[in-house]
Amino acid sequence: MKIAVLGAAGGIGQALSLLLKTQLPAGSELNLYDVAPVVPGVAVDLSHIPTDVKVQGFGKEDLADALTGCDIVLIPAGVPRKPGMDRSDLFNINAGIVRNLVDAIADNCPEACTCVITNPVNTTVAIAAEALKAKGVYNKNKLFGVTTLDVIRSETFVGNLKGLNPANVHVPVIGGHSGTTILPLLSQVKGVEFTDEEVSSLTTRIQNAGTEVVEAKAGGGSATLSMGQAAARFCLSLVDAMRGENVVEYTYVETNSDDAEFFSHPVRLGKNGVEEILSYGELSEFEENAKQAMLDGLRGDIALGVEFVKG
Ligand code: LMR
Repeated sequence: MKIAVLGAAGGIGQALSLLLKTQLPAGSELNLYDVAPVVPGVAVDLSHIPTDVKVQGFGKEDLADALTGCDIVLIPAGVPRKPGMDRSDLFNINAGIVRNLVDAIADNCPEACTCVITNPVNTTVAIAAEALKAKGVYNKNKLFGVTTLDVIRSETFVGNLKGLNPANVHVPVIGGHSGTTILPLLSQVKGVEFTDEEVSSLTTRIQNAGTEVVEAKAGGGSATLSMGQAAARFCLSLVDAMRGENVVEYTYVETNSDDAEFFSHPVRLGKNGVEEILSYGELSEFEENAKQAMLDGLRGDIALGVEFVKG
């Protein structure tokens, strides 16, 4: 497995790269790319950890070399929000960054699975799809928006509320990755009962969890450590699937369903990325209403990304 992290010197990139260096299967290669001059240092630093994962740093001019031969590319590059901002406020700066990186993926490793972390994910995934289409190499089974952070947060908050080990709690989360487009399906959590009030307050907390971190960091950025953990979990699941294991993760993919062109679903992963998009099952009345209320917003976020590339 050869994996590239684009934006590897940033807060998410460093946490993610550390987790991958310690958890990727023996014999893997980890290519760290960043425009920040510190990236060779990050790579040297990580390379001193005794695992059989080869780490190499690639600077501003070396993007093509960083990508050549990669099986998986993770994109945390870009600017984080500050208090008072929505994820969509990052569009102006991050859209161009994602477009340029995805163009380079299309040119240097068009067969790779591309995992987008850069916000606004609802839109940047659509930008990535259009950029790949423009280069004639789009494969909808190999493009993912990483929404695993919503899943791990939900598991933590439910575990804490109900006095359970969060590691044993599983919460499906569908939709997108911003505000009300994040839709935890609490009605499907096994072995746990919630009051209506708990459903309402937990749903709101999960939807605002990114903002909770942004405010707590008080101008110092957004989630990096939990996002690094979430992205590592998703990447390691993809690696397991590409090595033949049966793995299901919730992720934001092209579904072409009535909901929206891109929508987080449970997805069976395999050797070639998406093997099967699974149904998210039956929704409670609360969840169905919440879904209907957010669909227009999500479709608008996606349209913005399409328009950015098509002009
Ligand atoms: C998160 O959910 O923490 C990330 O998407 C970062 C953010 O801006 O909230």
